Amino acid sequence: MGVRLGEPLPDELLDPGERLTPEQLRERQLALLQATLRHAYDNVELYRRKFDAAGVRPEDCRTLADLARFPFTTKADLRETYPYGMFAVPMDRVRRIHASSGTTGRPTVVGYTEADLSVWADLVARSIRAAGGRAGHKVHVAYGYGLFTGGLGAHDGATRAGCTVIPASGGMTARQVQLIRDLAPEVIMVTPSYLLTLLDEFERQGVDPRSTGLRVAILGAEPWTEEMRREIEERTGVHAVDIYGLSEVMGPGVAQECVETKDGLHVWEDHFLPEVVDPLTDAPLADGEHGELVFTSLTKEALPVIRYRTRDLTRLLPGTARPAFRRMEKVTGRSDDLIILRGVNLFPTQIEELLLRVPSVAPHFQLRLTRRGRLDHLTVRVEARPDADPRQRAEAAAAIARAVKDGIGVTAEVEVVDPYTLERSVGKIQRIADLRSTDQGS
Ligand code: DLL
Repeated sequence: MGVRLGEPLPDELLDPGERLTPEQLRERQLALLQATLRHAYDNVELYRRKFDAAGVRPEDCRTLADLARFPFTTKADLRETYPYGMFAVPMDRVRRIHASSGTTGRPTVVGYTEADLSVWADLVARSIRAAGGRAGHKVHVAYGYGLFTGGLGAHDGATRAGCTVIPASGGMTARQVQLIRDLAPEVIMVTPSYLLTLLDEFERQGVDPRSTGLRVAILGAEPWTEEMRREIEERTGVHAVDIYGLSEVMGPGVAQECVETKDGLHVWEDHFLPEVVDPLTDAPLADGEHGELVFTSLTKEALPVIRYRTRDLTRLLPGTARPAFRRMEKVTGRSDDLIILRGVNLFPTQIEELLLRVPSVAPHFQLRLTRRGRLDHLTVRVEARPDADPRQRAEAAAAIARAVKDGIGVTAEVEVVDPYTLERSVGKIQRIADLRSTDQGS
């Protein structure tokens, strides 16, 4: 199959969108943006109301910069119009529904026309090629199938890329490991936290994950760090690359990291126009500045989104492996996962980064927030590596507490717990247990 990871993708494997020059891309973006604004205004009452209230019309968009004059869309808009109020096509043109559960209240419902599903498959196929997957590879999909976009999105993309799909979905971990051993997929698509669960199971079965045929892991749906990449790559011998997306904008495959550079995710800008804004003032920020990622869809029919606030924090950087497309830096976290502890802001990924530098602990951790008296209290619970002795565990706890204090500026209690005692992920992991509003832990 002649896959040489680490080298640029041969020209013949780039699709037409990836071959656009920056000028052609900007020209196409403007035409598609104008059409999308018109489509949204004409067919979705909520957009018409919001545009009117802001005093803008689709025809006011004459340059890409004019987009900043249009109002934002949020998850609350989708909730308010639940279930179908933001669909811009008649229901008989909608071929698929997905939904995200959300932590509170109504789920967010999203829909796709035939053309939307086709674009989605094309973009996931493009993402798989960028990650190093090729036609003829077997792709083990361990993202959950169902209303979550991960499983079916990866599935259709792998099919479109000419791969053989193994639709494992999430769960039944022992069987997944057996399937990986016996069916010998070259590519796995899974959340990073569930991949760690699979690696534990390899260990339990006494099998070296390096002995499988796996070469590429396409990991996303939750934040993960460079340190986690190193950990996974060392334990498995695969290339671990990042895939990003969200159901409101499409699903997996909005942006993808290229295996030859592993330097952040190229946003597939021929279909999604990214912006970064200041999450507090809403002001647009220049490329290179950190803020909240915002997307406008350029080709979506069933559910066009205009300036959708993702709550994901990152920044935009110039393209590298795909020069016409900008990159987004790895997402540090969602503004929802921001912990404010005695005035200091911190994300779980910052803790992950520090923990993974300490040799005698495993990459399994949980953050517990409690209230002691009137003060918030953070406990970092992390598992010891199976071979760590009590002295190493005590040293690790002290080293982590010091690193958290020096690196982040907060005091945390660190508990190094026994191996295999923290709950394992089968999909997206919940790192934070916030017990502050209950009486527990005081
Ligand atoms: O998680 C879509 C997806 C599936 C992406 C499989 C990648 C792989 P939602 O359930 O709507 O969709 O959740 C979207 O997950 O706003 C981010 O906060 C987070 N997220 C997704 N990918 C990444 C990533 C899917 N690579 C939300 N890094 C997004 C960090 C990610 N966070």
